[in-house]
Amino acid sequence: MAGIIGYVGSKQAGPIILEALRRLEYRGYDSTGLAVGSAKAFHVRRAAGKLRNLQAAVRMDPVRGTYGIGHASWTAAQASSASPDGPAPAAPRSLAVVLCGKPTNMADLRSRYSVALPADPESSDADVLTRLVVSQREDGAPLEEAVQRATAEVGGSCAFAAIAEDEPGKVVVARRGLSVLIGLGKREHFIATDVRAILNRSRDMIQLEDGDIAVVTARGVRVMDSEGLPVSRMVDHVRWDPLMAERSGYKHFMVKEIFEQPRAIRETALGRLDEETGEVVLDELGVTSRELRDIGHLNMIGCGSSWHSALTAKAMIERLARVHVEVEYGSEFRYSEPLIDRKVLTLVLSQSGETPDSVACLKLAHARGSKTVAVCNSEESTIAKTARGGIYTQAGPELAALSTKSFTSQLVALYLFAMHLGQVRGKLPPELSKQCARDLLELPSLVESALELTLSCERLARHVAHGSKFLYLGRGLHFPIALEGARKLQELAHISAEGCAGGEMRHGPKALIDADMFVVVIATVDDKHRLSRLRYEKTVAQIGEVAARQGRVICVTNQDDDRLRENAHEIIRIPSTSELLQPIVTIVPLQLLAYHVAALRGYDIDQPRDLGKSVTGG
Ligand code: G6P
Repeated sequence: MAGIIGYVGSKQAGPIILEALRRLEYRGYDSTGLAVGSAKAFHVRRAAGKLRNLQAAVRMDPVRGTYGIGHASWTAAQASSASPDGPAPAAPRSLAVVLCGKPTNMADLRSRYSVALPADPESSDADVLTRLVVSQREDGAPLEEAVQRATAEVGGSCAFAAIAEDEPGKVVVARRGLSVLIGLGKREHFIATDVRAILNRSRDMIQLEDGDIAVVTARGVRVMDSEGLPVSRMVDHVRWDPLMAERSGYKHFMVKEIFEQPRAIRETALGRLDEETGEVVLDELGVTSRELRDIGHLNMIGCGSSWHSALTAKAMIERLARVHVEVEYGSEFRYSEPLIDRKVLTLVLSQSGETPDSVACLKLAHARGSKTVAVCNSEESTIAKTARGGIYTQAGPELAALSTKSFTSQLVALYLFAMHLGQVRGKLPPELSKQCARDLLELPSLVESALELTLSCERLARHVAHGSKFLYLGRGLHFPIALEGARKLQELAHISAEGCAGGEMRHGPKALIDADMFVVVIATVDDKHRLSRLRYEKTVAQIGEVAARQGRVICVTNQDDDRLRENAHEIIRIPSTSELLQPIVTIVPLQLLAYHVAALRGYDIDQPRDLGKSVTGG
């Protein structure tokens, strides 16, 4: 899901919309379109494939006008059809709609409203929605009223915007589940489903609430709730620096973001940790210390990398706060009958704060009386706004589709949360708090050292880039890191890679090990922990087993151990920290390896195929 854009003001809307769409590209899409109007004309352009195709279409046949809308979205199911999602030429030219997300009752709407379309089965969701809005205007209703009536018929999560030739200078936008922001300027306004798209234009934003409809003109913004009643919405000032959303000389956003991790970690801890005492203060948590003491157990919910960070953080929380933690996939939890009540604290992890499965879980947990906390990288997101409280990571905009700095920042935020919970529940003694704080403060410089491995990772990538089978093994907190490392290689380099808990290797994956398989083994140890030492010894023995089957071992370790040298083809040596923070260092070379392998194989790094930044739930 990429998103939608709107502009109304005194400047030419076309270039503004195209530029905002470029900033949305990182979210993945396969078709684009725009509609621009003036008092005299109304233009619609759309193109399949990359944004450059739309830019070329506009260059060939320019659009002129000071208000307009645009979209970049997935039309995977219709990629071969001539009718990509977006402003719909099949409907009367006088009205255009752009849509983001996937309404759940499309089949029903299609049978009711696409009758008049020439190519019914081929018509896109936006075409159908256009018909729906047109039908609501037949009695002469103004555009906002037609959009409001249409919104009432649309189910599921989406956002859409409309313009009409006979109501120039007006953009109407509706929020139904997905986030919609309106950036305020001087006699001009910007609409976007992602703050990054318009951050360079405005930092004062109105976030619509679910069900809201906004009428946006150059003179102002009028917001109505789902009943059509006027409501006022707060203006938020976004603190992100627009320059953070530029590539600053790096070849790809992803590698820039990998290298930003020391800063992101530092800023996520900043102001929350007393360096002397180790005390953690989480101002926006929204759950009092008394309530935290009362909690029976914790639920942590996420999708993709956010799920991996939840699984890693489970060990942090259970060890520092001695509270039981359940970790659930958003796509499973939302369709389950969870045993939760007001004694359960639910943490929903989502860097974007918009993944529909995670949004649905948050609402479900809330409805069951659970206290809810968002762990997000965007304070303006739906999840952040819906949860009772939050712990916001300070990773800054992450534009590559794959999570890197937002993943490690999540782990830092959750480590702080684990410390805080341990402190208020009397499970983390002052001396241990101080030690945890010292470890955390040292972490950014260790991650900086791990980043120096980029050349070794590039060299290693040259040796393994031809590989087609990868297995990643890790124990304890490094099991989810093995999953995350494997996921990065799958997503980015399109190589079959499996993550596995070390001890599980013998229950299946072992049968696949041969000379063609690369086995990435995480073999780190925290000497101060008996169980960590035990896990390490088990891992060393396992490396021997892999080598005996001719598997090609790539060992990521903080040790200088002859036994590793004997059996590993490659050793990546990383700096040591406490066992709970070690995953944040360990993941760095795995990110770099996936990046370099994908670059060598010539794949699209920032927008890998079939991957959106925020995935529409199904
Ligand atoms: C997509 C992205 C992943 C991300 C996941 C969840 O699959 O490609 O990198 O981890 O969505 O996203 P969220 O924003 O909820 O953390």
